[in-house]
Amino acid sequence: MNYPYQINSFDQYQSDYKRSVADPEGFWAGIAENFSWRRKWDKVLEWNFKDPRVEWFMGGKLNITENCLDRHLEKKGDVPAIIWEPNNPEEKSRTLTYSELHKEVCRFANVLKNNGVVKGDRVCIYMGMVPELSVALLACARIGAIHSVIFGGFSAQSIADRLQDARAEYIITCDGAFRGAKDIPLKAIIDDALVTCSFVKRVIVFERTKTPVSMIKGRDVWWLDEMKNAGDDCPAEEMDAEDLLFILYTSGSTGKPKGVVHTCAGYMIWAAYTFVNVFQYQPGDVHFCTADIGWITGHSYIVYGPLAAGATTMIFEGIPTYPDAGRFWEIVDKHNVNILYTAPTAIRSLMSYGTAPLENKNLSSLKTLGTVGEPINEEAWHWYDQHIGKGKCPIVDTWWQTETGGVLISNLAGVTPAKPGYATLPLPGVQPVLLDEKGQIIEGNDVSGNLCIRFPWPGILRTTYGDHERCRTTYFTAYENLYFTGDGCLRDADGFYRITGRVDDVLNVSGHRIGTAEVENAINMHSGVIESAVVGFPHEIKGQGIYAYVIFTGNLEGDLTRKDIAQTVTRIIGPIAKPDKIQFVTGLPKTRSGKIMRRILRKIAEGEMSQLGDTSTLLDPAVVEEIKKGKL
Ligand code: WTA
Repeated sequence: MNYPYQINSFDQYQSDYKRSVADPEGFWAGIAENFSWRRKWDKVLEWNFKDPRVEWFMGGKLNITENCLDRHLEKKGDVPAIIWEPNNPEEKSRTLTYSELHKEVCRFANVLKNNGVVKGDRVCIYMGMVPELSVALLACARIGAIHSVIFGGFSAQSIADRLQDARAEYIITCDGAFRGAKDIPLKAIIDDALVTCSFVKRVIVFERTKTPVSMIKGRDVWWLDEMKNAGDDCPAEEMDAEDLLFILYTSGSTGKPKGVVHTCAGYMIWAAYTFVNVFQYQPGDVHFCTADIGWITGHSYIVYGPLAAGATTMIFEGIPTYPDAGRFWEIVDKHNVNILYTAPTAIRSLMSYGTAPLENKNLSSLKTLGTVGEPINEEAWHWYDQHIGKGKCPIVDTWWQTETGGVLISNLAGVTPAKPGYATLPLPGVQPVLLDEKGQIIEGNDVSGNLCIRFPWPGILRTTYGDHERCRTTYFTAYENLYFTGDGCLRDADGFYRITGRVDDVLNVSGHRIGTAEVENAINMHSGVIESAVVGFPHEIKGQGIYAYVIFTGNLEGDLTRKDIAQTVTRIIGPIAKPDKIQFVTGLPKTRSGKIMRRILRKIAEGEMSQLGDTSTLLDPAVVEEIKKGKL
């Protein structure tokens, strides 16, 4: 037994689960004892899902960086905290031990202070996958600033929207980021975003790619110069358990992304507890999560979860197919990776290259495999199991969301049973329920419905930044007194859960959440577009692709116009939201009250022409025939 809170057997899982439901406060108080507190809590939990209001470990004081760094120094000072693998395999990898990481974080925390950042300020981070990205997050947390990381694939316009929503006056970025054969000019994109964000006071730039940048006098400073003038000593700010730790923007069914808010203590405990238990981490293991830190998976399972557990965590700068499709396997071999956590889309993509990229790669260090972000199809599951795990590594299929802070439903590696395509069973503290269309709870097994959670766990979101009402209406009004996930779900005869996908207007493209309304807004920005409707369709590699129906006026030039529209989406949101297919139409199927019938459009995009249902109530049924004929 390596962590006092590690679940070691299926029996223990079952008894812990029971206890977590019967006595949640006692259960989580016991777990929380394993962390370092400046002051213990007065009350473990107060909550209602009506307001909603959730507070864990009330009155407790702590700093998450003391848990992630300081407390490991004595015994693990020389243990690698971060192993960094660069985009280019010819470049040397870097290792930061816990002492080194601690020193860097303290120094950069002083840089932030020297530049005027104080507790409660929002700091936007827009960087590539370099160790300094983790340093930036932790330095914010050290001084009580609230970080908001924006994924490097978002456009200037998306950054500006988020900066304005969070009123972030400080930015940490890089000159550029290496990703495969590309060099993304991050600082130039920030400059474009800042045209409409004059409230930004300071931009700190880490040099990585030596891309030429314009440094604006009085606003922009270099990371390295600032580090030279900063001291190593930076005592951690004492934070309340419920003080904000970070904001992370995510897409929903409306056009505007929302800032999901996580707080210090509950998030930390959830990230660490789930990390240790789901992956069954053992001290000394090398954990490789391939996500980007710009998404929640990177926050929880590259940065906070592993570091809170004193683990060794990898940061990989590049992409799975650069310089070739053997890159992941080469990294596993080179760094003796024990745990590999990736997305089904990456597995499907690598699978398409066959097994040649696996030749001469020693994968025998692997003990545990994981997937996240979307349902995994059985073919990909078996390929992963057979060719990567060689049939001896448990695969954890981890279901969770930005809003949940960490994994809610998953098997625990080698400890609880796995089943291909199934996230299986809830973690202790998680109480899933399935609901039917009428809002009734569906009891028993071998049933499916909308997935809700009926009791708070420590890592649940607390609000959406600057708009609590939005949090309430998005998650807590669909079903009374329940957190609604937006996912559909099946519970099989054994009580195992299988997530079937979103039931709202959110797409999951290569494991990235994208709201159809957001894409429509972006398409509609094109001067020739009158109206558009966006739906998902099954895509072999991405899971879901983006299918756009567009009413266009003016000079329609086929593929050129398609490219123009795609370019517009790239400008407004970023390349991740670019439609895969654009079909020009003269009208959209609407009800008499003017509502677009997306169900029909979805069926057509999926190629299920015969299952359109009743179209007679449409304003103009003829348009459906036209759309069917023009399907791409
Ligand atoms: C989907 C990512 C099936 C789901 C951590 C959820 C999954 C959304 C799985 C959240 C899984 C995530 N099986 N579907 N194992 N994991 N999803 O916020 O639809 O980027 O609601 O968080 O991804 O995406 P998000």
